[in-house]
Amino acid sequence: MKIAFFSHHHFEKEFFERSNEKHGHELTFFSTELNQLTTSLSLGFEGVCCFVSDKIDAKALELLKKNGVRLIALRSAGYNNVDLEAAAALGLTVLRVPAYSPHAVAEYAVGLLLSLNRRIHRAFGRVRDLNFSLEGFVGFDLNQKTVGVIGLGRIGRVFAEIMLGFGCRVIAFDPHVGSSEVDGKIITYVGLEELYQSSDVISLHLPLTPETHHMIAHKELALMKEGAVLVNTGRGALIDTVALIAALKSGHLGGAALDVYEEEEGVFFKDLSDKVLMDDVLARLLTFPNVLITSHQAFLTQEALEKIANVTLQNITDFQNGAELPNEVHAKTHMI
Ligand code: NAI
Repeated sequence: MKIAFFSHHHFEKEFFERSNEKHGHELTFFSTELNQLTTSLSLGFEGVCCFVSDKIDAKALELLKKNGVRLIALRSAGYNNVDLEAAAALGLTVLRVPAYSPHAVAEYAVGLLLSLNRRIHRAFGRVRDLNFSLEGFVGFDLNQKTVGVIGLGRIGRVFAEIMLGFGCRVIAFDPHVGSSEVDGKIITYVGLEELYQSSDVISLHLPLTPETHHMIAHKELALMKEGAVLVNTGRGALIDTVALIAALKSGHLGGAALDVYEEEEGVFFKDLSDKVLMDDVLARLLTFPNVLITSHQAFLTQEALEKIANVTLQNITDFQNGAELPNEVHAKTHMI
């Protein structure tokens, strides 16, 4: 099929080109983001391949349809950037990559936690500046600490297993999963309130839905242990950022390691180093010595990119062949 590949990043091209040897689709790579203003690039293509930062709203979909596009192939698990109702009304098919590498994200969450707790990111900068002082770098042993995991799905479970390997006590909350055992070590199921109150580290691995939007707000932060560390590789809007800033300013929260942010659009994945940052909340968050932020990169491993390329291209081939579409996203699905 002729596919217009939007928001192309250099890091993904080789994986798609290699995987496409088997599928033989005609891929044209555009670094441009897909939105209402850029749909004209899709003229003459049967499908578009999109990234999480593309804005595929009703107007964009209408224009895509006019240009002859029949398929929206997302190379992501999330689909909050697509107006699914509008796509269904226009008869456009939306496909996604439901899971790639849980290890990529879980290992990254552990990396963020270690960096923040032991100040590795700050030490790197200090030493390069020939400042060999250790002041301000005291962390804590993870061994014997209580780690609370919210969302014990594919990623949360791998994260829990790694933390058990560190000798942590792991507790978890997930409405759909009970207590479980890993190599004779127990992940104890607890209620959310108990998790907030007893955890030294809390890591979020659940989807963003209308129910989980801002689930960590003032009340939940106040319940957390003094000095607790919050890790979020899930979705930014799981946390009320303004409440997070208040908990950091008061000194109640020990730190936050964030790979996601609720207002990522227009900032994450972009080089703004020559620009003025217009988001005052993010700007404030970046001033804390005990906050570590990265730009939604937890998924970024070779294994995950390979899987994303393979599944996306298989999705396109299935669509072309009129085969069953196990990765189709329907309008009634409620993840945001
Ligand atoms: P999954 O679907 O395997 O697991 C999610 C778990 O969350 C499920 O067990 C579900 O029962 C649980 N859950 C649902 N609602 C909950 C609630 N209210 N409270 C507690 N648990 C709840 O998903 P997976 O693959 O583990 O991914 C988790 C999240 O990680 C994704 O939803 C996505 O937002 C995020 N993610 C982030 C990436 C990054 O690069 N930062 C990359 C991939 C995923």
